[in-house]
Amino acid sequence: MSIGTILEGLKIQDLSRGGNGVTREAMSSKGLTGEKPRVLFVPLTIPGDVVTVKLVAEEKRFATAELVEITSPSPDRVKAPCSVFGKCGGCTWQHVPYAIQWKTKRDGALHALSRTDVKLPAAPIEEFPAEDPWHYRNRIQLRARPVEGTPGDIDLGYFGRRSKALVDVARCEIAREELNDVLVETRAEAKKLLDEKLAKGEPSPEVKVEIDVLPDGTVRKAWNAKHGALGFRQVNDAQNEKLRAFVRASLSEGAHFFDLFGGAGNFSYDDADRYAFVECVDTGSPEGGFEGQPENYRFFKADVARWLDRRAKEFEKGVFKPKGPIEVVLDPPREGLGDFSHKIAGALDVLKATKIVAVGCDADSWARDLSRLAKYGWKLDRVAIVDLFPQTPHVESVAVLVR
Ligand SMILES: C[S@@+](CC[C@H](N)C(=O)[O-])C[C@H]1O[C@@H](n2cnc3c(N)ncnc32)[C@H](O)[C@@H]1O
Repeated sequence: MSIGTILEGLKIQDLSRGGNGVTREAMSSKGLTGEKPRVLFVPLTIPGDVVTVKLVAEEKRFATAELVEITSPSPDRVKAPCSVFGKCGGCTWQHVPYAIQWKTKRDGALHALSRTDVKLPAAPIEEFPAEDPWHYRNRIQLRARPVEGTPGDIDLGYFGRRSKALVDVARCEIAREELNDVLVETRAEAKKLLDEKLAKGEPSPEVKVEIDVLPDGTVRKAWNAKHGALGFRQVNDAQNEKLRAFVRASLSEGAHFFDLFGGAGNFSYDDADRYAFVECVDTGSPEGGFEGQPENYRFFKADVARWLDRRAKEFEKGVFKPKGPIEVVLDPPREGLGDFSHKIAGALDVLKATKIVAVGCDADSWARDLSRLAKYGWKLDRVAIVDLFPQTPHVESVAVLVR
């Protein structure tokens, strides 16, 4: 087979946790690398679809094809409500019924865990699917550019699927309605800014805007600012409440709580009075904290591994005296703790930490981190799966670890 080959009449057999439809049907002949790829991934398909596809990439173990035509749709397929679904780089699962999305996410996270040496807990897995899988995003980031060849017209939208071309959006079906409500005015503001850039002679002007809605309904905009200028906040408020409640119920009252990769204190700030003391560490922490912050609360704008290392040394010297048993939340970015997992686990050993709640937004890196923590004697006590990102394959996995 060569890139560009058209394959007809393939039946999609599975849905991968990465989000793609999967078939093994075309994999009978040797591929470009001389090996026989085992599976073919086809984005935007669902088990039961019969499709015509075009081969676009091939690796040793798998190949990828783009959908050309659905010759017979799966009975499970649903109509995507978004007018730019498939073109936009945002959602890739609007054609998948929510019950199948959820099952694929839950099973996927457990599968990632089953590929490690970590033993599942005796307690059943706790499941938190979304009640409303639409209109949940409290923050969106849009870009705007002039439309080539149509003076005066602009595109305002998201990057396309696998491309940096802009897909114009009039509304976004996963964004909160308060954000959709300001898109017309945002378009006018973007046009004004682009016109100013064009007037200055910029050849290919672009502007960027991050818009969010606060719990009290206030909508804020940050134009051309660094990503996250409005501060890191989980994008799904309703699901985040379930995640916070699970974390809260996992931690002991009176603990000395390290909220690591803590952002603005999502897991600790509002609950500070439950704990003897809270230390929230994040490279993006609000420096100096907030006005009127609780007495027993400290923010540290610092790298977690280095901060923990320092705390461990202070503990050994008797300079740092915890105000209760040390319990920890680890909520790193997508790539997980990575190479720092040993440094972090070593420091937590020295500090005699008694509990870790490990939160991960990528099941593979989360499972790998748990496997590394297991080498230091940590055992899985509870696992929860929380869907913060309906209509996409992303999922939040949470593990409570005890000695
Ligand atoms: C998934 S977010 C979690 C934020 C927070 N726990 C929440 O629920 O809102 C990951 C956070 O890790 C922070 N971060 C990334 N690398 C870091 C590092 N080496 N040390 C400290 N914080 C880091 C980011 O600034 C980001 O706020």
